[in-house]
Amino acid sequence: MCGIVGYTGSRQAQEILLQGLARLEYRGYDSAGVALEQAGSIEVVCRKGKVEALAHTLSHFDFQSHCGIGHTRWATHGRPSEANAHPHTSCAGDVAVVHNGIIENFAELKEGLIARGHQFRSETDTEVIAHLVEEALEDPSQPTLLQAVAQATEVLIGSFGLAVLWDQEPGTVVACRRDSPIVVGRDETGSYVASDIIALIEATRDVMILEDNQFAVLTPDSLQCYNQDLEPISVPLTTIDWAIDGAEKGGYPDFMLKEIHEQPRVIRDTLAGRLINGALTIDELEMTPEALNLVDRVYLIACGTSYHAALIAKNLIEAWARIPCEVEVASEFRYRDPIITPTTLVVAISQSGETADTLAALRDARVKGAHVFGITNVVGSPVARESDGVIYTKANKEIAVASTKSFLGQVVSLTLLALLLAQSKGTLTSGQIRLLFKELVDTAEQVETILSREAQVEPAARACKDATSALFIGRGMGAAISQEGALKLKEISYLHAEAYAAGEMKHGPIALIDEGFPVIAIATKSPVYEKVLSNLQEAKARGALIVAIATEGDEEIASYADQVIYIPKVRDALSPITASVPLQLLARAVALQRGCDVDQPRNLAKSVTVE
Ligand code: M6R
Repeated sequence: MCGIVGYTGSRQAQEILLQGLARLEYRGYDSAGVALEQAGSIEVVCRKGKVEALAHTLSHFDFQSHCGIGHTRWATHGRPSEANAHPHTSCAGDVAVVHNGIIENFAELKEGLIARGHQFRSETDTEVIAHLVEEALEDPSQPTLLQAVAQATEVLIGSFGLAVLWDQEPGTVVACRRDSPIVVGRDETGSYVASDIIALIEATRDVMILEDNQFAVLTPDSLQCYNQDLEPISVPLTTIDWAIDGAEKGGYPDFMLKEIHEQPRVIRDTLAGRLINGALTIDELEMTPEALNLVDRVYLIACGTSYHAALIAKNLIEAWARIPCEVEVASEFRYRDPIITPTTLVVAISQSGETADTLAALRDARVKGAHVFGITNVVGSPVARESDGVIYTKANKEIAVASTKSFLGQVVSLTLLALLLAQSKGTLTSGQIRLLFKELVDTAEQVETILSREAQVEPAARACKDATSALFIGRGMGAAISQEGALKLKEISYLHAEAYAAGEMKHGPIALIDEGFPVIAIATKSPVYEKVLSNLQEAKARGALIVAIATEGDEEIASYADQVIYIPKVRDALSPITASVPLQLLARAVALQRGCDVDQPRNLAKSVTVE
């Protein structure tokens, strides 16, 4: 959440900052601002709303600046407003700070700063940092900006990625981090800092990812990193191999649709090279088959959509590998006392790889002695770096706030993991594993078929668009899929939606149903198909408007449902891969018909780096 970008060099800083902020906007978009250093002073311009509004305002100025920092915000402390937008400055306006994260002890720090005469202009936690740096710079020992930032951050509790300017060190940007990502890089024109690689990919493919408590000093001609003791260090270069079009819409009207259409490629890339000589291999997990064979309990921990991928995987791990598997929301897991032994495997699933709750749960599990795998989409992310082994989902950069292709990448990766565990345990034969793997690969083509019939969802979307609430139901795999369908719909269309295991409907939610109430059912052919039909009868009898996701060739379903969206036949275990695609398309179509911004839904941000 929140995007940070900074530049110092020979180019116009404003242009680079705006370009970077536009790329980072998916991380937060309630306000944006820049601080530009010009002729020994710092000019700050902020606007409520999107980066576009900031760009419009800046077009009325003629700043000639070659050094600056910028920010796009997702509000935590203080409502979205111009006053709360970053950059925040010191009393004298000579220090400017942009921040990603949360300062947990800001209230106490603020009280002390006010008592010492500092005046605050915003409700944010971040502003304390500008005042603390200002205070540190007043020290008679005449510290550098780096030393002042280091001193200021010593008293901070919480998470931060920071970029700081001081008008007395023109052309210098100091950056640092703790529990919040910061990357730095250079091109022939100067030095860059950002909270996400995506803001730098036009400038350079070779970036340095700072570790916690490391600092970087950027000047037009140099980029030097430092450890906590401010000793110079060399941080290894990470080369980014994403195609730049990952950050462009590529002819699609929005990122969400583009990303939905990338899913067949994601499936193929995630599976490429995994079956060698008839055996599954995931070398990056760095766990021998013997060690895998000892695993006797699995916890899958995640948030949001990633949690739904975990719900799907639980079924597969238990059915195929016969290992008890629990799925937990990371924000709960971290405060529980789960039973963890050295033979417990904890899998942390996070698209961004930086979700605060998932990361905290992962760390906790490691401290308790579990072996931890990460499943993430972001190379070098904290989840990747802090896990014992990692599977990358190969979705490439996902920009739309609503996860689609990374979700599918997670489901495919977890399916692989379930097969790998079954292989190690010997609970499936190698023939069964090869067949399942082949069918998994085939889902790429089946998803292509679904996408070629995208228009199928339109009548259902029209039927649902004026509703105030909707119910998603399914059984078995369908119950897990329906959870994701409901989340997708509510997050981008603001239509309230709930998901229930269909058998539970009669225990409460059925009271919601009256004439025209949308019930979206996962009614694909499965061992529980007939049971789902009974549940549809119950809903129909009460006037529900039924939209069914059904298997091609199923004519019977038409007598139960008002709208049917057909998908190709796959085995039940793989149905989440195909059945979730029409639900993504349906959510998008409803959202568009309700006039919503599908890429940047209100109140949300792409990565949630605060608790
Ligand atoms: O990056 P993560 O996978 O850890 O993110 C978890 C959730 O915040 C995320 O899935 C969220 O629910 C999305 N908005 C879903 O579309």
